[in-house]
Amino acid sequence: EQKETISVTFVDKDGEEQHIRVPVGMSMLEAAHENDIELEGKKIIVHFFTSFIICCFAGACEGSLACSTCHVIVMDVEYYNKLEDPTDEENDMLDLAFGLSETSRLGCQVIAKPELDGIRLAIPAATRNFAVDGYVPKPH
Ligand code: FES
Repeated sequence: EQKETISVTFVDKDGEEQHIRVPVGMSMLEAAHENDIELEGKKIIVHFFTSFIICCFAGACEGSLACSTCHVIVMDVEYYNKLEDPTDEENDMLDLAFGLSETSRLGCQVIAKPELDGIRLAIPAATRNFAVDGYVPKPH
């Protein structure tokens, strides 16, 4: 039996939880946008080639694996293990993400499916202030 929506919890940098329902097939980036949840938040990137200052917002590249601003940390390893393995492209972008952990993923690549019902996703800034189950800092 396929569920139409699954329960997803986003945990922000203050430890505040936001419980939302996400339609099967929707990415966590889209789900965050639809619910006005900021992922990594605003960050400013200096573009050295053009000397322009570009403000990047979470999900800046719209899910095309070119920005890593949609970085989320899967808080429970059992859910992390239910996800499809990241592609090489995703891993390359994750390497650039701030606060990388062993259960980091790009939110635009995590697609809601029935087995993910109950998944909890930490927005990376949160992980510096409180412990997250299964959080293992990844050495660079
Ligand atoms: Fe840019 Fe996910 S939105 S990598």
